[in-house]
Amino acid sequence: MRVLGIETSCDETGVALYDTEQGLLAHRLYSQIALHSEYGGVVPELASRDHVRKLVPMVREVLAAAHCDASSVDAVAYTAGPGLIGALLVGACMGRALAYAWGVPALGVHHMEGHLLAPCLEANPPEFPFVALLVSGGHTQLIKVADLGDYALLGESLDDAAGEAFDKAAKMLDLPYPGGPHLARLALKGDRSRFKFPRPMTDRPGLDFSFSGLKTFTLTTINQHALADGLPDDQTCADIAAAFEEAVVDTLVIKCRRALEACALKRLVIAGGVSANSRLRQKLQDALGKVGAEVFYARHEFCTDNGAMIAYAGAQRCYQNPYLLRAQ
Ligand code: KG4
Ligand code: ZN
Repeated sequence: MRVLGIETSCDETGVALYDTEQGLLAHRLYSQIALHSEYGGVVPELASRDHVRKLVPMVREVLAAAHCDASSVDAVAYTAGPGLIGALLVGACMGRALAYAWGVPALGVHHMEGHLLAPCLEANPPEFPFVALLVSGGHTQLIKVADLGDYALLGESLDDAAGEAFDKAAKMLDLPYPGGPHLARLALKGDRSRFKFPRPMTDRPGLDFSFSGLKTFTLTTINQHALADGLPDDQTCADIAAAFEEAVVDTLVIKCRRALEACALKRLVIAGGVSANSRLRQKLQDALGKVGAEVFYARHEFCTDNGAMIAYAGAQRCYQNPYLLRAQ
């Protein structure tokens, strides 16, 4: 079975074709970073209009790269939400129109389910059950995944998502949008022990998170060391970035270990944009290795938004429920 996946929830246009026998046949990703960077963040109206421009050519490209035509597509999956409403509408309209024209079913996929399943596209996919840490720009969630579609929320952020906190801290350090990867790069040059930032909500039981206090802590530290231009010297900025990253990573690691223990599971999947963070991967691997647990993640380009995860999630849904195909 072949499923075309379309992702347009935010500032990336993603299209992919996934085959349940042969795996990922082709995928294309277009990032709108250059379009939004001069505004310091995503401008929703510009995002929608750019998805309109890019989608049709990208669908053509993916089909050509996979050496197949539309008649071999069995279903079209598109991101139904959450995300920017205008951007989502572009993907939904295009997905449904293509499905109607091709006489195949269209199905909306939850964006976070797409992220959650993205590591299954890799060579050594995790087996069910597992615990998933979803860390994106809009969500920070720990989920017990018993099986495909059988998800139980264990804990989540009560305020800012981890990615959002990265982006806001990066903005304070005058780094370009999207801040997460830039802050992580700057942190590599920093002294991780010079400043000690708090590890929020780790001193009490539970699996919820709160990252907004770290933002305030970052701003206070920046102001305490600011020079005439409003920012500390370069080394201090790097030290602050390192302290911030260390605090977020340690907090996530502590809660992941707790979640695995609570569920008596030994497999952790990390997904979403922040799962691309090298320090997080490394510290999780170290911590989980000590308790005989394993961590799974997707290749970098499938950590952030992409069409492959939507095609994959859509294909699993069709596979699980063949009536979706027969109902057409
Ligand atoms: O999953 P994603 O592409 O979009 C959402 O669904 O939100 O995640 C984007 C988020 C942004 O906040 C971005 O700064 C963050 O993921 N991010 C990172 C890294 N790469 C992306 N944060 C920290 N370190 C990274 N290497
Ligand atoms: Zn996402």
